[in-house]
Amino acid sequence: MTHTQVPRLAVIGGSGLYSFIDDADQIDVATPYGPPSGPITVGQVDGRPVAFLPRHGPHHELPPHKIGYRANIWALRSLGVRQILAPCAVGGLTADVAPGDMVVPDQLVDRTTSRTQTFMDSGAVHAPFADPYCPTLRRALLTVEPSATDGGTMVVIEGPRFSTRAESRSYAAAGWSLVNMTGHPEAVLARELGVCYAALALVTDMDAGVDNHDSVDQATVFAEFARNTDRVRDVLRRAIGALDERTDEPTDCACASWLDAVTLPFTL
Ligand code: ADE
Repeated sequence: MTHTQVPRLAVIGGSGLYSFIDDADQIDVATPYGPPSGPITVGQVDGRPVAFLPRHGPHHELPPHKIGYRANIWALRSLGVRQILAPCAVGGLTADVAPGDMVVPDQLVDRTTSRTQTFMDSGAVHAPFADPYCPTLRRALLTVEPSATDGGTMVVIEGPRFSTRAESRSYAAAGWSLVNMTGHPEAVLARELGVCYAALALVTDMDAGVDNHDSVDQATVFAEFARNTDRVRDVLRRAIGALDERTDEPTDCACASWLDAVTLPFTL
C-alpha cells in the first residue's frame, strides 16, 4: 500500500458505482466470513485516505442476496474504517419522491428473508438499532446537498425480483417511502462493529404500486443510476471533505459507545 495512512472512512458503492477513487491501491482482505465483494481500494479524497468497496463486486457479479455483507463490513473495520457512506439505488413508494431525487433515510424496515444479520453468534449482545443511521454522517450529507430529502423509511426486500403491485402498495400504505434490496443487513452489521453508517439513496424508479406505474425493470434502474453517478460521487466527495476524521475517542454519536457495556464474542 503506498497510501500508508489508515482509511477511517469508506464508501460502499452500489449499482453503477464501481469506482470512486483515482490513483488507488488495491487490497485483498481475508475475513472469518469469506472474501468481501471484491478488492478494497484505498486512495485520497480531499486529502484524507478513503477506502472503497463495490458492494456487488467489481463487475456486478453479486446479486443482493449473495453479497457477503458480514465479510464486507468486517474487512473494512479490520482496515481501520470507522465511518461508512453507503450510496444505493432505491425505488420510490410515494408521490413526494421522483427518479433522480436523493434521499438520506432515517429509518429502515427489514423484509429480507435469507441473510445472516449478525456477528453476535454467541453470548447476549443486542445492538441498539432504534436509529439505524449515524446522525453525524446524515448531517454531513444533508449539509453538503441541501436538495436531498431529509428522512424517509427504506424497506429492504429480499430480491432479486422486484415487488408485486400489492406488496408495493402495502409498503406505501405503511408509510414507507423507499424500497431497496441491499440496505439490510449492511447497516446493522456496521452498528454491531461500532462503525458509523449512513445511506445515500438515489431514487431510480417509481415502484409498481405507485399510481399503477409500469412494472419496474432492471434496465430503467441501471440507466437512471448511470445518469446520476457523477452527482452521487460529487455529494460523497463533498461530504467526506466536510466530515472530521473519526478517531477511537468518544464521538457525538452513540454508534460505537454502546460496545463499552457489552462483552463481544470476538476480538475487535
Ligand atoms: N432498487 C432500485 N429500485 C428498486 C425497486 N423498485 N425495488 C427494490 N429495489 C430497488
